Amino acid sequence: MTPTYSKDEFPRAAVRPAVAIRSSTISPFMVMEVLRAANARQAAGGDVLHLEIGQPSTPAPRGVIAAAAHALAADRLAYTDALGLPALREGIARWYQDRHGAVIDPRRVVVTTGSSGAFLLAFLAAFDPGDRVALAAPGYPAYRNILKSAGLVPVELSTGPETRFQPTPALLDALLAADGRDGGGGPLRGLIVASPSNPTGTMLDAMGMAALGDWCRRHGVWLISDEIYHGIEYGTVPAATALDYEGGEGAITINSFSKYFSMTGWRLGWAVVPERLVRPMECLAQNVYISPPTLSQHAAVAAFDCVEELEGHVARYRRNRDILLNLLPGAGFGRLAPADGAFFIYADISDRTDDAQAFCTRLLNETGVALTPGVDFDPVRGHHTVRISFAGAEAEMVEAARRLKAWRGSGRGSGRE
Ligand SMILES: Cc1ncc(COP(=O)(O)O)c(C=O)c1O
Repeated sequence: MTPTYSKDEFPRAAVRPAVAIRSSTISPFMVMEVLRAANARQAAGGDVLHLEIGQPSTPAPRGVIAAAAHALAADRLAYTDALGLPALREGIARWYQDRHGAVIDPRRVVVTTGSSGAFLLAFLAAFDPGDRVALAAPGYPAYRNILKSAGLVPVELSTGPETRFQPTPALLDALLAADGRDGGGGPLRGLIVASPSNPTGTMLDAMGMAALGDWCRRHGVWLISDEIYHGIEYGTVPAATALDYEGGEGAITINSFSKYFSMTGWRLGWAVVPERLVRPMECLAQNVYISPPTLSQHAAVAAFDCVEELEGHVARYRRNRDILLNLLPGAGFGRLAPADGAFFIYADISDRTDDAQAFCTRLLNETGVALTPGVDFDPVRGHHTVRISFAGAEAEMVEAARRLKAWRGSGRGSGRE
């Protein structure tokens, strides 16, 4: 017989389950706070020049939208293989052949929910709780937060203009030497690099990537290369891929449709991994999200045929970059990281403030120009930096530079916080 309970039999004083201590170590993304303030200003009728946003202002390529419409009309929207549609995995492998001359077995391509999904799967597949993973500061904050949420320990390498804000074998040697002195904190199992980088826009050259690949190989450390801004480069030589140097054995190469392909909300990315990681990542993907978004996958197959349109976006970013690099020094932003790629300029404003957050708030309130304070990217030194995004329209860049100059000239923009 099924037992029955009266309401009075349940305990009255409930013990509320606690939120894990680990989740309190995950920081908010400050750029979202800036965005909220900028949107509130706009909603109240104020104008805003969005130089804080780290995403393309352009739509997805026309061919992608047509392929999506076709897939939608045919209702081809069931789950796919957890590793992704075979046609898309083959398209991604061909992309490496065309761009880098690298021959990749499509079976090594894992299609994911944005590169964000690829990071999570890769970290869970390659590392055990407590493992340490090195990364550059300043850097994209989600690396650190995803690592922590998976029980891993981010180890930040403080980088500066002398290494183009990129890690080097010397910095890694110094880290291991310090471990030797103080006993270390567990094995160093991974190194994350991003070239072009967010927030600095700087790139590793081919030698730099090769040297890091070599260091990782000698130390049994995974090289995780975030190549999400590949294709958005302003030099003559294309950005180096980790696949060139590791033969794929010790490297996890991550990329996305979000930036070059202008498809942020489609939530599609990928990882190219050594064969021994494919099955663990497949099992994780099956359990965590079953399969990447199907509509986006059908559409993304067409993305590789849209290069002409996409190169048009890169040409616009280049013009925006040139405008800002030319005008910012006259507006009081004289110490700029070389913007080799991506759509960011990282500015040292230590001569103007010790509190980049307050500086950005005041700048937004007084001029309508939204920038991102550096604290997201470098909790230690980011109080002295801002990230300026030039993903928007050319006219916005010209107007933002004009307002920044006028603000400085008025004296309001030069008082220290
Ligand atoms: C350096 C870097 N990596 C990864 C991501 C995550 O992008 P997505 O998940 O859209 O691929 C971003 C997003 O801004 C980024 O800037």
